[in-house]
Amino acid sequence: MKDIYILGIESSCDETSVSIVKNGYLDIATTINTQIDIHKKYGGVVPEIASRKHLENITIVIDEAISKSNMKLEDMDAFACTYGPGLSGSLLVGLEAAKTLSFIYNKPFIKVNHMMGHIYANKINNNNIKYPVISLIISGGHTDLILMNSETDFQYLGNTMDDAIGECFDKVARILGLSYPGGPNIEKLASKGNDTYKMPKLLEKDNTCNFSFSGIKSHVNNLVHNAGQRNEKIIPENIACSFQKCVTDLLVTKTEKALLKNNIKTLLVSGGVASNTYIRSNLEKMCKKNGIDINIPNKIYCTDNATMIACAAYPLYINKDFASLDTDVISNLKLN
Ligand code: KG4
Ligand code: ZN
Repeated sequence: MKDIYILGIESSCDETSVSIVKNGYLDIATTINTQIDIHKKYGGVVPEIASRKHLENITIVIDEAISKSNMKLEDMDAFACTYGPGLSGSLLVGLEAAKTLSFIYNKPFIKVNHMMGHIYANKINNNNIKYPVISLIISGGHTDLILMNSETDFQYLGNTMDDAIGECFDKVARILGLSYPGGPNIEKLASKGNDTYKMPKLLEKDNTCNFSFSGIKSHVNNLVHNAGQRNEKIIPENIACSFQKCVTDLLVTKTEKALLKNNIKTLLVSGGVASNTYIRSNLEKMCKKNGIDINIPNKIYCTDNATMIACAAYPLYINKDFASLDTDVISNLKLN
């Protein structure tokens, strides 16, 4: 069979990324332009600024990826992009770019669900995933446990009842006075601390595969606030360490429950929070203990990137599941 090259575009939040992927899993060239430094001073992503920056960057990032790949735009077999979920104005920039390329070069246009992209990050440079699997997505907007009987069959086992885990990292970081994005900064701080603060036992008696993170966020908030009122000193690195351990324990316990309950022997992990070394190693330990295979993408493929989007587009290309050029963005798009 002829090799298939798909150019993917990701612009759902604050990363403008373009990638060329061969046969659904080989990363030929990827460019990621992050706006973190721009949004840092506002403490989070400002949607209007994000879309304007995507607009300034998109053609530059496409040119960079194409020149890294030593290929030409006309060599692509299809153009794909994220159409949701995400920030509408940001999504629109990537969507219009992919549709325009598809129109100019007369090649199929493929629309990809961003969450599907995160799951497909597990395929990058690893084209040998055996189904059924359980997929754990941990990002800024999601904490999902999904049973997949095949590449395209999804069954929700659990998700968060309130905040997503990444959102919780970001909010706790802000309470501790750390800058955006909070997750990596909490991880850095935690590595210098010890687990000395008592944290609540999250969902101790809950038998479902659901998560809840708002309780721990309030707990850290009260702890810092009360210490401030009493003029007591806090040790931020120890709070970060105890917080990270507490949410990781919940993540590992619920994921283990989902795997054992459903007798599944492979775990896929993805999403920005999966770049956290402490979380990665604790999930790995749990899987080793239970004889379960675990697949976690390299850290650069956990946070938002276009490689995962081009990977997710490949089975759609094979099934000729092409999208029309009047496709619009869907900011609250769900997985099913
Ligand atoms: O997947 P992602 O890049 O974007 C979404 O689709 O949401 O995830 C971003 C989230 C943010 O909340 C960020 O703080 C978190 O992932 N994150 C981390 C780490 N790196 C990114 N959380 C904990 N530890 C990290 N090292
Ligand atoms: Zn994402």
